[in-house]
Amino acid sequence: MSYDLDKIRSDFPILNKEIRGKRLVFLDSAASAQKPLCVVDKIRDMYLNDYANVHRGLYYLSESSTYIYENSRKIVKKFINVEHEDNIVFTRNATESINIVAYSYARVHLAKGDEIIISEAEHHANLLPWQVLRDEIGIVLKIAKVEDDGSFELDSLRSLMSEKVKLVSMPHVSNVLGTIFPVKEICKVAHEYGAKALIDGCQGAVHLPVDVQDIDCDFYVFSGHKTYGPTGIGVLYGKKGVLESMVPYQVGGDMVKKVTYEKATYADVPSRFEAGTPAFIQAVGLGEALEYMMNIGMGEISKHELELVDYAREKLYGLDYIIPVGNAKDKGGVFSFVVKDIHPQDIATILDQQSIAVRTGHHCAEPLVHRMGYETVVRASFGLYSGKDDVDALVKGLDKARSFFI
Ligand code: ALA
Repeated sequence: MSYDLDKIRSDFPILNKEIRGKRLVFLDSAASAQKPLCVVDKIRDMYLNDYANVHRGLYYLSESSTYIYENSRKIVKKFINVEHEDNIVFTRNATESINIVAYSYARVHLAKGDEIIISEAEHHANLLPWQVLRDEIGIVLKIAKVEDDGSFELDSLRSLMSEKVKLVSMPHVSNVLGTIFPVKEICKVAHEYGAKALIDGCQGAVHLPVDVQDIDCDFYVFSGHKTYGPTGIGVLYGKKGVLESMVPYQVGGDMVKKVTYEKATYADVPSRFEAGTPAFIQAVGLGEALEYMMNIGMGEISKHELELVDYAREKLYGLDYIIPVGNAKDKGGVFSFVVKDIHPQDIATILDQQSIAVRTGHHCAEPLVHRMGYETVVRASFGLYSGKDDVDALVKGLDKARSFFI
């Protein structure tokens, strides 16, 4: 069955919006994706018909909201092929998921002199938690290089590996370069040296089919709002045995077995990491979003987006006044670039006047953007609702910006 883009777009009411009398061309899905109506409806329905706090009441409504919340965990299990739903912790977002690994795993299991390897292509969320740990307990943070075209060679990781390395933490897909990292091979290299592997799946889970058992990562994290779900919800997957070895990140309600004035015994995973009333409505919204994606088919979504990548590589990166920032062979739907002689902010402003939404800046990856030679770049990123007409509109918009300035 062919990919029914019109039908998919009709599921996203905001895409029908006209801004300044023009069709909205939304090319900022890497920052946050738009929501299908089913997600909004599910959240509304939950508030109107099944709302009560989870895990606490023995009455009908609480049992029903608990069931729906826990069912979302099962949906995540299916979405990234987790061995058991208990290996999934709901967090606030991917940033919080990585911070939990830093605080509850690395702080406990790593010591002065131990090494963590990340890549040059990290979002700040996969850099700052390790910097804090470095400054606090004296771990050594090493950075594996990316190539000038944005590609990542496994040798760059291999050259840094030794028995001192305890954790390798890398993106599935770079949020600036679009590079698809060889995550399965990265995990294999990490494991050869006895290190654990964390994959930041923010731009992975939304574009590619993910099978954490096949990747064999120890941790996989992603954000709900980038996978067409609500804000305020994220996922931390941890391999069996790894989550169990971690201390709680926060303490309080619903994460304990027994409490006296002297001490507390903590609950098993995943409850141990979900202190307080969880964002259960958001988790349910996320479950609906993942079901929505699975109904279309992650293979279909990925195929559609990769075709669009080929198209944008030709039409956008083919323009003689564009300098691509990240043009690796294995690339997802994230296109960063600069326009010769025009500041990225001016480009974004003129595109906005044409109802084309792109992001400009360092994209929460300042060291990476500097490494590529810039202070700031323009970024166009795709979602499952993006099409060739969006790329064409962007190219036309850029031509217009050029004629305005040059
Ligand atoms: N991390 C998000 C982005 O890449 C916000 O734009």
